[in-house]
Amino acid sequence: MNPTPSQLRAIKALVFAAALVPLARLVWLVFTGALVEPLQFITRSTGDWTLYFLCITLAVTPLRRLSKWNWLHKLRRMVGLFAFFYALLHFTTFLWFDHFFDVAEMLKDVAKRPFILVGFIAFVLLIPLAVTSTNGMVRRLGGKRWQWLHRLVYIVAPLGVLHFWWMKAAKHDLAQPMLFTAIVALLLVLRLWWARKKQTPARAGVA
Ligand code: HEM
Repeated sequence: MNPTPSQLRAIKALVFAAALVPLARLVWLVFTGALVEPLQFITRSTGDWTLYFLCITLAVTPLRRLSKWNWLHKLRRMVGLFAFFYALLHFTTFLWFDHFFDVAEMLKDVAKRPFILVGFIAFVLLIPLAVTSTNGMVRRLGGKRWQWLHRLVYIVAPLGVLHFWWMKAAKHDLAQPMLFTAIVALLLVLRLWWARKKQTPARAGVA
C-alpha cells in the first residue's frame, strides 16, 4: 500500500482529528458536569493518553518495517507531538488546577509522592524533542545529531512507565503498568535487535 499525496493528506487529517478525540471527550465531560472528581479524572486521563501516544510513537518504526508501509514514517512526528501535547496538559493540570502554581505545595506533594518527580523528568526530556521537531531544526542540527537527540524517547517512555508503575504500586494495582512495561520493552527490544542485525554483516566484512 502506497497512498498518493492527497490520500496521505487525508490520512494525516484523520489521525489529527482522532488524536483530539480524548481532549474533546474531556472537555465535554467537564462542561456537562458528568465527573465526580474532575481534577483526578483529568490528571489520570491526560497521563494515560501521554503514555498511549508515546507507545504509538515508538510503534511506528516497527510497524513500518514489518508492514513495509514506509509512508507510516510520515505520521511519526504528529503522533510524537501529540504525546508532548497531552503531557503538557497533564503537567498543566498538576501545576495549575491541582497546586495553583504554589511551588512549596508542589514540592511537598513530590516529597509525599516521589513518582511525580519521575514524570517530571520524562516531561523535561520531551521538551527538546518537541522543540526540534520541525524540518528547519532537523536541517540546523544535521540528521545524525538530530537522530541522536531524538533517541531520548527511548528514555522518556520507560520513565513514563516507571512513573505509572510507582503510582499504581502504592495501590497494589499493577496489571496495567505490567502491560505497558511489556509493550515498551518489546518495542525497544525490536529496535535493538534490528540495530544488531544491521551491524553484524558490517563487522563480518571488516574481519
Ligand atoms: C512523559 C511524561 C508523563 C507520563 C507518560 C505520565 C503518565 C501518567 C500516567 C499513565 C498516570 C496514571 C493515570 C491513571 O491512573 O490511569 C499518571 C498519573 C499522575 N501523573 Fe503523570 N505522566 C507524565 C508526567 C507527569 C508530570 C510532569 C507530572 C507533574 C509534575 C505528573 C503528575 C502525575 C500525577 C500527580 C499523577 C497521579 C494522579 C492521581 O493520583 O490521581 N506526571 N501519569
